[in-house]
Amino acid sequence: MRVLSGIQPTGRFHWGNYFGAIRQYIDLQGEPENAFYFLANLHALTTVRDADVLRQNTMDAAIDLLALGLDPNRATLFVQSDVPEVSELCWLLMTGTPMGLLERCHAYKDKKAKGLSADAGLFAYPVLMAADILMYDSDIVPVGEDQVQHIEVCRDLAASFNHRFGETFVMPKAKVLDSSARVAGTDGEKMSKSYGNVLEVLEDPKPLRKKIMRIVTDSRPMDQPKEPGTDHLFQLFSLFANDAQRDEMAAMYRRGGFGYGEVKKALADLAVDHFAEARQRRQELQAQPDRVREILRDGAAVARRKATDVLRRAQHACGVK
Ligand code: ADP
Ligand code: TRP
Repeated sequence: MRVLSGIQPTGRFHWGNYFGAIRQYIDLQGEPENAFYFLANLHALTTVRDADVLRQNTMDAAIDLLALGLDPNRATLFVQSDVPEVSELCWLLMTGTPMGLLERCHAYKDKKAKGLSADAGLFAYPVLMAADILMYDSDIVPVGEDQVQHIEVCRDLAASFNHRFGETFVMPKAKVLDSSARVAGTDGEKMSKSYGNVLEVLEDPKPLRKKIMRIVTDSRPMDQPKEPGTDHLFQLFSLFANDAQRDEMAAMYRRGGFGYGEVKKALADLAVDHFAEARQRRQELQAQPDRVREILRDGAAVARRKATDVLRRAQHACGVK
C-alpha cells in the first residue's frame, strides 16, 4: 500500500497546511517505498514566475518538511520535476480529459469568476495532479478538504483510461482529517496564503505572538458566555490543546467572565511550544544544504524507478510504445 501527497513550494507553510496536510504525511510514514511526498514545483509554476524565488522556495519547503518530522528513513521526499516521466503521463491523460470536467474545477473556475485570465497550465492543473498520483500506483492521498475535488478528477481519469485501454492504473482514495479539514485564519475565513490571513508554522515566537494577538474576534462583553463550538479562536486553540486543556477552555467560554486576550495568550504559549523543536531543527538543516540536496536526489531516484515502470505500462496500454 502506498501513501502519496504533494505540496506546492509557494511560501512558508501555515497552520492550515500543517494541520490539514503535513501532519498526516508525518503520521503515515513507515517504509520509504510506501510513503512518497513531493514538492509540486511544476504546479507552483502556475503562480511563481521568478526562477530564483521558485528554486529558493523549493529548498525552503524541503527543509521545513524535514524539520517538521518528515524522516527520509521512513518516507521518500523528492521534487516533482526531478521525475520527468510525470509530464509525459500528464499528456497521455490529457488526451482523454473532457474540457467540461476541468471547467468545473475550483482553481480555474474561481479565477474566471473574478474576471481574471487563466493560462492553460492552471486549466490543466488537475490533470498534472492526476499524473502525480497515478504515476506511483498510489492508494491513499492525504490532503486538506479543498483538494478532494482534484482527487475525484484523478479517479475519473483513471477509470476512463482503464475502461478504454484495460486495467492500467490503481484507483486512489483521498484521506482528509475531519478535525482540521478547514483551519480558520486570523480573520475567521479559511486560512490561505492568498487571503493574507496566515499564521506560519515556523515563524519566530515574537512576531507569531503579535499575529496571534491580532486575531479578529467579536465585540462580546467580558462577562457574557460564549458557545466555543462556533468560535474560530477556540478552534485554533483546540488544534494545540490536549483534552484537559480544551475542556477547561470550553468551560470558561460557557461560564463567561473572560476576555479574548487571555485565550490568545494561552494559544500563543501552546503554539510557540509546539513548534519549538521544529524551529531548532530547521536552523540545523539550513546549515547543511548539501545534506538536504542529497536527500532530494536519493528520493528522486527511488520515485523514478517506480515512475518508469508505470509509464511503460501506460505507454503500452494506449499504443505509443
Ligand atoms: P494555500 O491555500 O495557502 O495556498 P495550498 O493550496 O498550497 O494552501 O494547500 C496545501 C495543502 O494544505 C493542501 O493539502 C490543502 O488542502 C491544505 N490546506 C491549505 N489550507 C488549509 C486550511 N485552511 N485548512 C486545512 N487544510 C488546508
Ligand atoms: N494541488 C495540490 C495543492 O495545491 C498539490 C499537489 C500536486 C498534490 N500534486 C498532488 C497533492 C498530488 C496531492 C497529490 O495542495
